[in-house]
Amino acid sequence: MDILFVALLSAVLVFKSVETKCDDQPVICWHTDSPFPLTPPVESCYGEGLCKCTNETADCSSSFGNLTFVPNLNRSYQYLNLSNNNLTNISHRHFFTNVSKDVRVIDLYNNGLTFIAEGVFEGLEKLESLLLGGSNLLGYKDIPSLLAVPSLRNLSMSCLKLGNVPEDTFRRVTHSHLRYLDLSWNCIGSLNMSVFKPLRKLKTISLWRNEIYELATAYMPSWETLDLPTNRLYDFPRTCAESNTSLFPNLKALSLDQNMIQGIDDPVCLPKVKVLSVSYNHFLYFRTNTLRTDRFPNLQILQIMQMENKIYGVSPFFINNSAVAKITFVLNNIDFSKDYAHPDMFGGCTGVTFLNLRGNTFQYVTDDKFHRLLKPMESSLNILSLSGTQLTHISSNMFSRLKHITELYLYENSLTSIPDGVLDNIGPMWKLILDDNMIETISETTFGVELRSRLKDVNLGGNPYHCSCEILWFQQWMRSNPTIFRDFHTRGYRCANVRNVTVPDFVLNPQACILGSDAASLTIAISCVLLFFLILFIVYFRFRWHARLCLYEVCRSRRRRTRTRRFKYDVFVSYAEEDVNWVLDELLPVLEGEWGLRLCIHQRDFLPGKQIVDNIADCVSDSERVVLVFSPHFARSQWCQFELKYCQSFVMERDDVMVLVALQETQSRDMTGAMLAVLRTTTYIEWDEQGEAKTSFWGRLRLALDEMDEPETA
Ligand SMILES: *[C@@H]1O[C@H](CO)[C@@H](O)[C@H](O)[C@H]1NC(C)=O
Ligand SMILES: *[C@@H]1O[C@H](CO)[C@@H](O)[C@H](O)[C@H]1NC(C)=O
Ligand SMILES: *[C@@H]1O[C@H](CO)[C@@H](O)[C@H](O)[C@H]1NC(C)=O
Ligand SMILES: *[C@@H]1O[C@H](CO)[C@@H](O)[C@H](O)[C@H]1NC(C)=O
Ligand SMILES: *[C@@H]1O[C@H](CO)[C@@H](O)[C@H](O)[C@H]1NC(C)=O
Ligand SMILES: *[C@@H]1O[C@H](CO)[C@@H](O)[C@H](O)[C@H]1NC(C)=O
Ligand SMILES: *[C@@H]1O[C@H](CO)[C@@H](O)[C@H](O)[C@H]1NC(C)=O
Ligand SMILES: *[C@@H]1O[C@H](CO)[C@@H](O)[C@H](O)[C@H]1NC(C)=O
Ligand SMILES: *[C@@H]1O[C@H](CO)[C@@H](O)[C@H](O)[C@H]1NC(C)=O
Ligand SMILES: *[C@@H]1O[C@H](CO)[C@@H](O)[C@H](O)[C@H]1NC(C)=O
Ligand SMILES: *[C@@H]1O[C@H](CO)[C@@H](O)[C@H](O)[C@H]1NC(C)=O
Ligand SMILES: *[C@@H]1O[C@H](CO)[C@@H](O)[C@H](O)[C@H]1NC(C)=O
Repeated sequence: MDILFVALLSAVLVFKSVETKCDDQPVICWHTDSPFPLTPPVESCYGEGLCKCTNETADCSSSFGNLTFVPNLNRSYQYLNLSNNNLTNISHRHFFTNVSKDVRVIDLYNNGLTFIAEGVFEGLEKLESLLLGGSNLLGYKDIPSLLAVPSLRNLSMSCLKLGNVPEDTFRRVTHSHLRYLDLSWNCIGSLNMSVFKPLRKLKTISLWRNEIYELATAYMPSWETLDLPTNRLYDFPRTCAESNTSLFPNLKALSLDQNMIQGIDDPVCLPKVKVLSVSYNHFLYFRTNTLRTDRFPNLQILQIMQMENKIYGVSPFFINNSAVAKITFVLNNIDFSKDYAHPDMFGGCTGVTFLNLRGNTFQYVTDDKFHRLLKPMESSLNILSLSGTQLTHISSNMFSRLKHITELYLYENSLTSIPDGVLDNIGPMWKLILDDNMIETISETTFGVELRSRLKDVNLGGNPYHCSCEILWFQQWMRSNPTIFRDFHTRGYRCANVRNVTVPDFVLNPQACILGSDAASLTIAISCVLLFFLILFIVYFRFRWHARLCLYEVCRSRRRRTRTRRFKYDVFVSYAEEDVNWVLDELLPVLEGEWGLRLCIHQRDFLPGKQIVDNIADCVSDSERVVLVFSPHFARSQWCQFELKYCQSFVMERDDVMVLVALQETQSRDMTGAMLAVLRTTTYIEWDEQGEAKTSFWGRLRLALDEMDEPETA
């Protein structure tokens, strides 16, 4: 319903808007913003539905331009809005009798007014504000009678195509209490301020959107606000009288936006100006001391925005004013890395708390230059904006000198990341606006714990977030502090890599991220190590016999010794009867056939007729080495045990004579004490049929037997 209402209203505004012309340039008049707050009308206050009312306001501006008289309102209202109607002729003294005496504001904007009867407002004792704009048939001649209303404080006569103010307009006015006069949009070209002198209590004058190119200033001690935006002034207005006293000794705010002013020349006498705005002008250079303290001793808020031309130079100390607290130096396209932007331009600005440099270029500004630029205000600056300055990175040092920042604006840049902790100690910051950059992720270390607990207002939207495990921490932070995040749950925090998904809504199987990235690399490292050992094991298994052989060689080589005695046999083989086949089929062919050793085998070499005990004793003592073929049969054979014991005692004299061959695995419980004893001191060589293992067996055996041969040949 409300939306419909507003839509219809704007239709009316378009329909009823008045076109004025200044020098044949058409100007469309729109109702300027309300000078007082209006709550939206809700309650109907007139039977025919021509007005909508709230407690204090009767808004009859919505009646489609059909209202030709002032309706009878059933209650008293302070604000009466009759704009956009057809009240063309305020023809008689009783025109407003239907309006209560309580009315303070009457808006008659855009009614095609042609005539206002004398004394029509006399009954309205509380009338303070009258808005008569947009009715281009009124003229300056109608103003004096209005000023006769003793209660009138505000008068708006905007968009009436009034033209230059005639010299005698206010001449007859004697007791005006007018505080505010709006003459905007009136095609004034040349103005002599002297005409306003009779308005002795005037504080604010708006001359916005005229064509003023010629301005004669005059002594205006009551003026506090002078609005001259959107005119054609070439020069900064003269503010000093002949004697260098101020023409505007009480002026607090001066707006000269959108003129063609190129500089501020001496002398300037504006002792109380707090707010100065010279945006959209034609300053080519900002020269040293342009805004210095003796020109503007009370200047606090300075606005220099969007010059209409390229700026050729910003000199050192161009402001040089310690009173200035707020500087808005935006959209001037100044490349701060270039020499024409002097690093000391803000010299003397020791009291700045707010600095907005949006819409300039900081891309190539070095840390040194940045520090020098902000040096004067290092101990005062609270609010800094470097938004839209094409910043591509923040160095870890960039903000290191700032210690009092409460609000930082870096939106609309090309930052790809925020180095960990760079924003942690730049002051008691609670507001951080970083939207519309190229930041891909925010991690736990980007902002310190202490900073995070301080932040009350954060905008990190409009960045191309890479939604993966790394983003989950950020998501958690957002979820647990939804109130500090601007545009939380809007499309502002979108995932660049997942279509139509925002960071708060991004879902990822938590299992996938249980191991953080550190853990993941650890896993990879462990896997590599395991793989390495696995390969090593496989290789070892493949060549395990070679390896054993090598090991054996190494061990045995330490025990080599020389021997001198010559023997009848090289080897005495002690074996059980049951293992004879192995001895004859395997051992004998290799040792005697291939290696050319002489073996003593009791079947063949024991002399018949001789005592078996003697045979053994002779054979052992005539053999250089003894090979004991261990097997379960060996353990059970009496003769074998005898041979073993004999050898053992024999070995006491000749060390390192015995070579053990394990033909089959023999359980230790099956072994005799002698066998166990010899096993404890002597390494044995296992027999294995398999190819590799067999090769290794012969190799090791050869080595064991060679140990005594080698020194002879050496
Ligand atoms: C009167 O109503 C018009 C249109 O609704 C609005 O633009 C204007 O600001 C109002 N006037 C005042 C004094 O509030
Ligand atoms: C004024 O008239 C409207 C419509 O007839 C009615 O709703 C409202 O209550 C009246 N207000 C007073 C104060 O009588
Ligand atoms: C309107 O007036 C009524 C009664 O006087 C009061 O209770 C209510 O708060 C007022 N509403 C507004 C918006 O001032
Ligand atoms: C005036 O009111 C009539 C009906 O009362 C309506 O048809 C007409 O459209 C209104 N005029 C405008 C300009 O809307
Ligand atoms: C006062 O209102 C009534 C009805 O609303 C209307 O008929 C009358 O013409 C109005 N009086 C004036 C002087 O406009
Ligand atoms: C305004 O009212 C007059 C009669 O008082 C009428 O002739 C004229 O057409 C009306 N204008 C509009 C725009 O409704
Ligand atoms: C306005 O009304 C008065 C009285 O009815 C009349 O004398 C005067 O000519 C009218 N003015 C215009 C411009 O219509
Ligand atoms: C008069 O105008 C001044 C300046 O625009 C404004 O602050 C004030 O509220 C206005 N007073 C009334 C009663 O409209
Ligand atoms: C402005 O008007 C005053 C008084 O009428 C006059 O003395 C002065 O010379 C005028 N100034 C200019 C520049 O015309
Ligand atoms: C006014 O001040 C300017 C510079 O600020 C100076 O050049 C000029 O001589 C002064 N004039 C008088 C009358 O003191
Ligand atoms: C800055 O202004 C002070 C006086 O406020 C002055 O002494 C100083 O010379 C000025 N600096 C420059 C560089 O002009
Ligand atoms: C993304 O969301 C918008 C609005 O919800 C929808 O119109 C659009 O079709 C969606 N696109 C895809 C690819 O899902």
